[in-house]
Amino acid sequence: MSNYHIKHLEEYYQVYRKSIRNPEVFWEEIAEEHFMWRKKWNNVLSWDFSKPDVKWFEGAQLNITENCIDRHLSTRGNKTAILFEPNNPNEAAQHITYNQLHERVNQFANVLKSKAVKRGDRVCIYLPMIPELAIAVLACARIGAIHSVVFAGFSATALATRINDSDCKLVLTSDGSYRGAKTIDLKGIVDEALEHCPGVQAVLVAKRIDSQISMKTGRDYWLEPLLNKASKVCEAEVMNAEDPLFILYTSGSTGQPKGMVHSTAGYMVYAAYTFKNVFQYRENDVYWCTADIGWITGHSYIVYGPLANGATTVMFEGVPSYPDFGRFWEVVEKHKITQFYTAPTAIRALAKQGVDLVEKYDLSSLKVLGSVGEPINEEAWHWYNDNVGKKKSPIIDTWWQTETGGIMITPIPYVTPTKPTYATLPFIGIQPALMDDNANELKGNQVEGRLCIKYPWPAMARTIWGNHERYKNTYFSAYKNMYFTGDGALRDEVGYYRITGRVDDVIIVSGHNLGTAPIEDAVNEHPAVAESAIVGFPHDIKGNALYGYVILKDTGEGRRHDNLRKEINQIITEHIGPIAKLDKIQFTGGLPKTRSGKIMRRILRKIACKDTSNLGDTSTLLNPEVVQDIINNVL
Ligand code: PRX
Repeated sequence: MSNYHIKHLEEYYQVYRKSIRNPEVFWEEIAEEHFMWRKKWNNVLSWDFSKPDVKWFEGAQLNITENCIDRHLSTRGNKTAILFEPNNPNEAAQHITYNQLHERVNQFANVLKSKAVKRGDRVCIYLPMIPELAIAVLACARIGAIHSVVFAGFSATALATRINDSDCKLVLTSDGSYRGAKTIDLKGIVDEALEHCPGVQAVLVAKRIDSQISMKTGRDYWLEPLLNKASKVCEAEVMNAEDPLFILYTSGSTGQPKGMVHSTAGYMVYAAYTFKNVFQYRENDVYWCTADIGWITGHSYIVYGPLANGATTVMFEGVPSYPDFGRFWEVVEKHKITQFYTAPTAIRALAKQGVDLVEKYDLSSLKVLGSVGEPINEEAWHWYNDNVGKKKSPIIDTWWQTETGGIMITPIPYVTPTKPTYATLPFIGIQPALMDDNANELKGNQVEGRLCIKYPWPAMARTIWGNHERYKNTYFSAYKNMYFTGDGALRDEVGYYRITGRVDDVIIVSGHNLGTAPIEDAVNEHPAVAESAIVGFPHDIKGNALYGYVILKDTGEGRRHDNLRKEINQIITEHIGPIAKLDKIQFTGGLPKTRSGKIMRRILRKIACKDTSNLGDTSTLLNPEVVQDIINNVL
């Protein structure tokens, strides 16, 4: 029997050792016993990081939708597969069973075929968080088309770049989307983008907001009438293990976004296995990940991972602040959510609102609280733990990336003892390494360096679409025979990992390496501080000095800013040392954030350096208006 479900710490260590000692044997057992194959593999793994060339389960044939849908029908046909919670709380939730999902995916797949989409073609999906999005993803996989989901908050320019980069022939969109009290004209954005996309032959439009939109004859089609006519039977295309399943774009430090290409078999096995263990999923659980399917978190842990386990997965169309900041907790109570997976930025925004909006709701169904996307600061961790988890639900701080396809470093709830701000231990099969500045591996505990992975895992991206050289240069050139993550991390005295942030966010002050995340943690400890971001700026003597942008809570205390500055630096001195004190502290009403909630430090760095003539591309910002405000008040 393979170790598909890990239930205690001893077992974790035992399975981990087995997965490292003989990865091929380990993954073969998992793949063999828990998935549906049309044909088994000839070889479990072949790899060469110098090229890089990685292949898992070569020779195997399968269709991922048979694993996510068909095989559950006999036992879970009437179980809810997708639970859709609309933006408007007064609109009824939709429970889509596995039987219904099967029919709807097949119909959608047949519509794609009728528009000449074939195996290997790229399909761009630019849809809001409505069931059609998940169904479209699965429909592509059903017929072997490669989906490229573009988050429906990206601008027309960003969309056009992504459509053209992977030469998509069809675009799926909707007449518009709801976002809290607002609506967004998605079709208008698509029309604008397509002026620059000569390769797109057809656009299928789902109806969501019932707005007046223009339809281009011969190119644009309403989805619903096509679906209604389509057959509910669609034989799954038999795919090879290494056929690309999807492309997902992630921003690089420079230039074009990178179209990360994920495989079929390896991705499926790893997404499913991590989901089962990292969320300790049990048959009647109702699992909710608040991410958008436009990001990797949504691909792996809203769609593929949960459905491969026959789970009930919630799709939430709305935002945490609508109709008020209690919405998440209202949904938890309403659907009796058991696992809740969100991002630190959301936790901080909610924490700012006070606890009465949390206490209003019954959260007793919760068993596991997840965090992903950025380091979770200590204050947010405790707020989440105390007020949402009531100190009973473990917080799993999951570290991973678009490129890794699945969760890489994480506690396993009820198995791994947690530690605030630590992602703790590598997941089964993952071999992290910390590297020093001279490219030597730092052995032992209590070390800090650049985080690499030494051995392939099944869900790793295989290439960058159309640019294998860039894939090699970005991830496999910094250290020989290693995948370089771009992150810094430390390993504590018991071997727990803490991610210290992107390596490009490390600031060297008077010859000392300082991660911005721990300093921000310290600043956020101050009771008047809501959020902070720290960047470096050039300093005559120290090389670099630290500039802190600080958002204050609305405490109404009206304390003098000079006193606050002193107190903040005192806290930093206490937590890290005087070396990490901030030379400048600017109080601000907001921080520039990407639509996925990440602080855009590049802009803050430029402002701190008083280099505001060319701030680069700010089109992906959620709140571009704060930039000018920060510039006007720069110290
Ligand atoms: O810096 C790490 C940070 O997010 C990066 C990956 O971003 P993306 O590809 O957008 O994927 C996000 C969702 C998986 C990483 O290189 N990151 C992600 N999770 C964590 C994190 N940093 C600290 N702690 C985490 N749990």
